[in-house]
Amino acid sequence: MFRKSFVVVSLVLAAAMLAACAAPATQAPAAQGPVEVFSWWVGPGEADGLAAMVKIFQSQYPNEQFVNAAVAGGAGTNAKAVLATRLQAGDPPDSWQAHAGEATVAYADAKQIQALDDFFKSSGFANVLPPALIPLISKDGHPYSVPVNIHRSNVMWYNPKVLSAAGVTIPAGGFKTYDEFFAACDKIVAAGKTCLALGPAWTAEHLFENVMIGSLGADGWNKLWEPGADWGSAAVTTALNNYAKALSYTNSDAASLSDWQPAAQLMTNGDAAFNIMGDWAYGYFANQPPNGLALTPHTDFDWTSPPGTPGVFVFLADSFVLPVGNKNPQGTLDWLTVAASKAGQEAFNPLKGSICARTDCDQSLFSEYSQGAAKDWGSNTVVGSLTHEVVGNPSWNTKIGSALGVFVADPTKVSDFQTALVDACKSDGVCK
Ligand code: GAL
Repeated sequence: MFRKSFVVVSLVLAAAMLAACAAPATQAPAAQGPVEVFSWWVGPGEADGLAAMVKIFQSQYPNEQFVNAAVAGGAGTNAKAVLATRLQAGDPPDSWQAHAGEATVAYADAKQIQALDDFFKSSGFANVLPPALIPLISKDGHPYSVPVNIHRSNVMWYNPKVLSAAGVTIPAGGFKTYDEFFAACDKIVAAGKTCLALGPAWTAEHLFENVMIGSLGADGWNKLWEPGADWGSAAVTTALNNYAKALSYTNSDAASLSDWQPAAQLMTNGDAAFNIMGDWAYGYFANQPPNGLALTPHTDFDWTSPPGTPGVFVFLADSFVLPVGNKNPQGTLDWLTVAASKAGQEAFNPLKGSICARTDCDQSLFSEYSQGAAKDWGSNTVVGSLTHEVVGNPSWNTKIGSALGVFVADPTKVSDFQTALVDACKSDGVCK
């Protein structure tokens, strides 16, 4: 009996092998057209990671044609508007970059993206994700996007040469308070340098969230997004005064800089001492040209926590989605398979400055900076970024952004700004 079935199996196998040999070279299923992937990862500090992941995609799916539909502009400033127009016109890209958190939930609410239960089940992806990430990509218990990374938004990059020339030493773990930081800024200004390099509007919001978290603490920040939030409190007034003062130490041409990179470069060039920016800046500083500056950590640039945030990890995560009504669902699933994979994430993240969303990436592939970030992610108090859409729903975020734009133009109007923030919370947020 055993022998007979062995012969039958052998015959079947031999026939299959013959068929495989006789088959034409193009065995993989024919592609359904290009796979258009939309993001804002263009240029310095943004493009290298994407290119590395695309390379894996192309080697694993040689019949798929990747189309890079990226639109330049940090934090998606331009890309989000282009995407909204395309979605309204019923012309979605095959996949797009979405922040884990309120942004992903908003696309799911608007029925613009599909639930990925089958994908998660068949790939076992949820088993290698940090449990904290799952609710942020889920609605009603269904996962809606594939997180590819975790970025830290609260990093204070600095130029060690500028600091030592001004006689400034950073206390172990970073400045504990904004007052301590402002005293250091006074020394830097006295030495003829800008203290804090800043770029255009979205980077002012990025600075805003960092000053708020550093002034209010992680708990105080979290409470601003929960029912009962008190945006009118005296603690918020103090935080806004800190923000106004921080703005007074920034470069006067901030608003006219094209994006975060020229601001970061003010620091690396030695015109400014500090730049508070997410860790995508690490890719810009350390990667090779043309997209990186090939700088040496600790010598050309260094990092610490922004004031008041030692032990706090402000996070955001990029993810990719499966749209409703896309032209190439199989191509999208192939892209999502690579984005979820260990190989895809290990190619993407070391160049992007982020850590893997997966918990099983090989740490030896990462820089000293990123290895430290991975440890901090596991041990720090983790809170969500506003600018990068973890907390605050999109319309609330837009209202905060408008109020902030008015304030940055005239930072003496702290009380008007606070009133606008209270109103924004009442109309689009959790305040009564
Ligand atoms: C964030 C995004 C990061 C990085 C950054 C600067 O919103 O999540 O991946 O690209 O903007 O553009």
